[in-house]
Amino acid sequence: MILALFFILSLVSLSKAVDTLEGTTFIFGDSLVDAGNNNYFSTLSKADTRPNGIDFKASGGKPTGRFTNGRTIADIVAEELGQSHYAGPFLAPNTTGKALLNGVNYASGGGGIMNETGKIFVNRLSMDIQIDYFNITRKQLNELLDSSTAREFIMRKSIFSITVGANDFLNNYFVPVVSIGQRVSENPDVFINHLITTLKGQLIRLYNLDARKFLIANVGPIGCIPYQKSLNKLREDQCVELPNKVAVQYNARLKDLLTELNENLPEATFVLANVYDLVSEVITNYKKLGFKSASKACCGNGGKLQGILPCGPTSSMCADRTKYVFWDNYHPSEAANLIIAKQLIDGNTRVISPMNLRQLRDL
Ligand SMILES: *[C@@H]1O[C@H](CO)[C@@H](O)[C@H](O)[C@H]1NC(C)=O
Ligand SMILES: *[C@@H]1O[C@H](CO)[C@@H](O)[C@H](O)[C@H]1NC(C)=O
Ligand SMILES: *[C@@H]1O[C@H](CO)[C@@H](O)[C@H](O)[C@H]1NC(C)=O
Repeated sequence: MILALFFILSLVSLSKAVDTLEGTTFIFGDSLVDAGNNNYFSTLSKADTRPNGIDFKASGGKPTGRFTNGRTIADIVAEELGQSHYAGPFLAPNTTGKALLNGVNYASGGGGIMNETGKIFVNRLSMDIQIDYFNITRKQLNELLDSSTAREFIMRKSIFSITVGANDFLNNYFVPVVSIGQRVSENPDVFINHLITTLKGQLIRLYNLDARKFLIANVGPIGCIPYQKSLNKLREDQCVELPNKVAVQYNARLKDLLTELNENLPEATFVLANVYDLVSEVITNYKKLGFKSASKACCGNGGKLQGILPCGPTSSMCADRTKYVFWDNYHPSEAANLIIAKQLIDGNTRVISPMNLRQLRDL
């Protein structure tokens, strides 16, 4: 009886300790959500020069390593869900101690599901390495809180956001160099199968480290980015068919995977963000949404769409950054990110399922 009472009391104080902590996000993936990890090693995938970050208020417009003019979708989502600080890059020296309670960002420009992805950039953090790093954070949280509070914090208060897959196509499968790409050896079905199996193992690793609330983004319409359109010399209103086709194929398999994991992993919730449809709709309806262009990069060089070279100090930049869907040859602008993030937070099951991010947070 006394033991039982003690047990109940300690459970109450435990959940209290966790409830005083803010909700947080652990962010994994590629340059769409990298907050500066690539600043800390040598790589050809970097966004640490002007004018990247020109509209990022928290840095006063200085580049942070984010591959856009302002906030990423992950930044906006964190703000809207009430988190008072952005998750710091894992590799930043001050992402330690109490700062870990703001969440940690492991994402890396050029990174993918497969280890080989992004070899073209020489260095990048692939998903397996990002999860190894989370395993380090996991131990640090055990020391910072006590281990049972840390576990509760991760299970109940933390969203695991994963935005990955585009580079596995753009900077692996479709790279026509045998030593770098995988195309020659596998047909799309086999390659996609390989991606899904590998991702499944990665998600289960995170689950085994106590992750329970997952947000997984599908692959966007990668045939519509200025880079692909420029390489293939398309008209402004066209997109490259094959990349979009394999993205759709991968996304269908991803959806099935998340349904399977929702059924089989107790107490876990996997939410699918339909970024493919969200971005496609922004591109189709760009005029109605107040944009001037959904095909030109605001910042970049090369071709009619400024879509060949990445954004940097010698690039030309558009006059009004809020009028472009794309910031550079690969990445959406903050204006486009805002539209997409709002849909993920409060949208319906067509774009975010089986629940939206506000509902996931409140579980
Ligand atoms: C870490 O350092 C960066 C760059 O100096 C700064 O912008 C950021 O606010 C710092 N983060 C924390 C949690 O102190
Ligand atoms: C990727 O590399 C990690 C080591 O960093 C290794 O543990 C893992 O097995 C590799 N994955 C594949 C699919 O080769
Ligand atoms: C985390 O690291 C420990 C070693 O410190 C290892 O035993 C464990 O397998 C790792 N967990 C995952 C999911 O990688």
